[in-house]
Amino acid sequence: MTLKDKWILITGASKGLGREMALLFAEAGANLILTARSTELLDELKTRVIAGGGECITVAGDLRDSAVLESVKSLCIEKQIDILVNNAGVVDITKLEGVSDERVDEVIELNLTIPIKLTKAVIEMFKTRRRGAIVNVNSAGGKKPVPDHTIYCASKYGFNGFAETLKLEIKGLGIRIISVCPGKMATELFNAAGRPMDTGAFISPREVARGVLYMLEMSPKCSHAELNVDRMS
Ligand SMILES: NC(=O)c1ccc[n+]([C@@H]2O[C@H](COP(=O)([O-])OP(=O)(O)OC[C@H]3O[C@@H](n4cnc5c(N)ncnc54)[C@H](OP(=O)(O)O)[C@@H]3O)[C@@H](O)[C@H]2O)c1
Repeated sequence: MTLKDKWILITGASKGLGREMALLFAEAGANLILTARSTELLDELKTRVIAGGGECITVAGDLRDSAVLESVKSLCIEKQIDILVNNAGVVDITKLEGVSDERVDEVIELNLTIPIKLTKAVIEMFKTRRRGAIVNVNSAGGKKPVPDHTIYCASKYGFNGFAETLKLEIKGLGIRIISVCPGKMATELFNAAGRPMDTGAFISPREVARGVLYMLEMSPKCSHAELNVDRMS
């Protein structure tokens, strides 16, 4: 499958893995809908995508804001997107008694509820066309427990359960689900959670993005695929 002229929504496109996927998909000829809160970072990315000959629409805002989420959903239908990339996420590294209820809501909403709602928004369109791909950026923490990542792992295990069960529901309908489960990557994720780390030995998000591109470009005969990348320790 080629990405040329395909419309792709990437959530969390301003930084890290989302940004690397945006740049690679644009190089492959895709048109992009990009979301995140950082207007300036999205604008800079949009300029690069357009300079490369692609179309690009940005939606700057918090995906937890229902007006922002609704406008993203509407754009998915208006542009008849071919690929949904559920990438935006936050991490929390706190023992359970130290996590506020608001933070529990934020992590579950961004990492689990919003991907479910976006998938729900496009699934009928994908079913009708009998094609479409959904890239779910999960985590190694969605498959094995990580100390003090209790809420994060709960969100990512839930996301994995959602995707695995959806695969049964869409069997034979030409829709592909790609799960991406990296170990620690060198991105802003830990800084954003107030837990800066030395990322020198972490996986490069560019390499993970290249893996996602490879999987998207596989023949339509390949249905679901999973990219697991463990960190050398
Ligand atoms: N880094 C790792 O070690 C690692 C490992 C495994 C899995 N992952 C997963 O990889 C995905 C991407 O994370 P990353 O490592 O690339 O982190 P990142 O560099 O912090 O990027 C996170 C992205 O999500 C956006 N975002 C965060 N909160 C948002 C909100 N409320 N509304 C809209 N957008 C929001 C951020 O943009 P703004 O700040 O501009 O809103 C940013 O574009 C996440 O799902 C994460 O769980 C990461």
